[in-house]
Amino acid sequence: MKANVKKAFLFFLSLLIGIFLFTSFLVLSKREFKKARISHEVREKFKEQLKMLPKPPFKKILGYEITKAEANLGRMLFNDTVLSRNNDVSCATCHLTNHGYADGNRLNFGALGAGGPTGKSVGKKWGSGKLSLNRFCSDDSFGFHCDDPMFRNTLSTINVIYRANPRTDSGLLWDGRFGRLAFQVLLPIHTREEMCGVNPVPTTNNPFTKEGPLFDQPITVKHSHLFNPESGKQIFTFNSPPQTISSVKSFRRNKNITYPARNECLAIAVAKVRKIPYYQRKFKKIYQSEVTDILIGKALAAFVSTHIANKSPYDFFVSGYDSLSIKQLKGLAIFMTPIGETTTIDNQELRGAGCAHCHSPPFFGGSEFYTLGIKGDDRSSLSQPSIISNNGSFAINVQTTHGTLPACHIAEVSASAAGASPDIGRAIATSDTKDCFKFRTPTLRNVIETYPYFHHGTETGLNPSTKTSHLSINSKQFKNISLYALKRAIQYHLRGPVDMTRVNTLQPKHVFFDPFFQIDPLVPPILMQFGPGESSTHYPVKLDKNSLHSLLDFVAFGLYDKKAVHRGYLNNRLSHPRRVPSGFLPSVTRDHGVQTELPPFGKFKYLKRNQLQEGKSK
Ligand code: HEC
Ligand code: HEC
Repeated sequence: MKANVKKAFLFFLSLLIGIFLFTSFLVLSKREFKKARISHEVREKFKEQLKMLPKPPFKKILGYEITKAEANLGRMLFNDTVLSRNNDVSCATCHLTNHGYADGNRLNFGALGAGGPTGKSVGKKWGSGKLSLNRFCSDDSFGFHCDDPMFRNTLSTINVIYRANPRTDSGLLWDGRFGRLAFQVLLPIHTREEMCGVNPVPTTNNPFTKEGPLFDQPITVKHSHLFNPESGKQIFTFNSPPQTISSVKSFRRNKNITYPARNECLAIAVAKVRKIPYYQRKFKKIYQSEVTDILIGKALAAFVSTHIANKSPYDFFVSGYDSLSIKQLKGLAIFMTPIGETTTIDNQELRGAGCAHCHSPPFFGGSEFYTLGIKGDDRSSLSQPSIISNNGSFAINVQTTHGTLPACHIAEVSASAAGASPDIGRAIATSDTKDCFKFRTPTLRNVIETYPYFHHGTETGLNPSTKTSHLSINSKQFKNISLYALKRAIQYHLRGPVDMTRVNTLQPKHVFFDPFFQIDPLVPPILMQFGPGESSTHYPVKLDKNSLHSLLDFVAFGLYDKKAVHRGYLNNRLSHPRRVPSGFLPSVTRDHGVQTELPPFGKFKYLKRNQLQEGKSK
């Protein structure tokens, strides 16, 4: 009897499970059918534009086919702090796998930046620049500054090979001012905000003396710049004749204290790398040569060229799979449809957001330049009107290379005497007033990882009226905030150009700029280009909440290739090594100004797709 009850119970249970599975199957397959139908619809509608990413053009851009051995050598150099003068910063300090090969800061700090070595710890041996958490932050009377941030928000190296254009020597960086990758990757080594630093060469125990342990042989630098040996002033001509350096003295000929010039910083890096047996062996084997600056550039370029994102749901979608969710498919349709037009998908009329006009597939950005009038970060040296107008540091660099700097900042219009002025962007590279305030359209591939957004990283997802220094958020908040910041970056576009000078006269109480959207009142609205010519009448673009979230879902996750920071194109490893050949501490991240070791590999996760919701700023 008891056995029968048990049997009957089991029978009913299996029946219930069966019914449940069957209905779930029906529901699921119904949804799958619906997805397949909408996928087909979207694919048909935009088939002219939805292209596949071509193979990375290594040979065309770098001049030859790179090898895995070369990329692996590049990986070590990329993570090795030996390339920085103070041994405190590597490329990976700012280009991190857990931030999509960018970093989590508005503007990051390079050599001797916040948390760098102190006057006491630099200069020992080669200067063991271990990063410390509580570094006294200002001029510490040894001449060390730690508040010299990088001048723009860190760009991701992902898919950089598609953006470089050696023929026109343009395409790289926010203003497209360089185009030869093997050349550009060496620039951080001699840029003061990145790896060169601003501390003077020590007057006692100078490690860079002639015939000393590092400069036992003179170093010839081919990636050179002109500089005045007397004053140490840079005369910024890139690709000037090679210079042979046999020491970096503590004083210039005019008795001034020495801050190493660009060529000297590069020579110091080469001298150090030459002393490390691992690098000696690898350079011999791969290039049949001793270590030179040009070959360091080649190895670094080979490594960053293997950072390829081509396996996002979008990529599978264009190769025939139904890999985008229904929501993302609608987001894609909204993304592709021009402003002022609508498209019907699944019998639903959707309003176009016109994103593809600039962020067009398959690269989703990276080539053209536009002015959106976004407020910059005042800490950047490119925001300082004195620097821009009086031919100081950066501006001179550009002037002698590309001609004269255009008058983007017209007195009383865009250069505020006391405060900061907008970064002039592309005009730095072209010297052409029609390029004032233009920035490269960033790629949206893997953009969810490269928070914060815009050229100075000003879109942080936080209300700017709450204090948003680089120290204000911790990494736990980061995951929600990146999505929220992305949403705001999109909303900024949808609102379109706003004439803040008019807003200011109409509402004299709300002077200057609106804190939420951060449009810069000093960028003349007449220069702003949010879309194709006539369409300014269509702004603001009013998307309903569902449409906005579909668009956000597509941009955040439909274009996200999670594997892009794990495996390189040549199946090479991309992770940050635990040890680097120099023996120095390898990559250290500076999340929001606080140094933390990289989290264990694979531990970094984002919100799941169904958790897509507005992040909360605390
Ligand atoms: C202090 C932080 C910092 C360090 C260190 C640093 N970078 Fe960068 N990197 C940046 C910033 C910021 C940009 C964008 C600069 C601009 O547009 O003017 C950038 C841009 C780039 C780009 C161009 C990406 C594109 O899409 O155009 C490449 C490639 C690159 N870095 C490689 C390197 C390599 C290789 C190293 C080490 C030798 C390095 N970086 C060290 C901050 C850094
Ligand atoms: C007129 C050309 C243009 C159009 C149209 C356009 N964008 Fe942009 N977008 C840009 C430029 C240029 C920037 C960089 C601006 C800056 O930092 O000064 C940018 C920046 C972004 C960023 C920040 C990325 C980062 O890495 O900092 C996101 C996200 C973005 N756009 C998404 C979109 C979406 C979504 C649409 C459609 C609603 C869109 N854009 C339409 C030109 C455009």
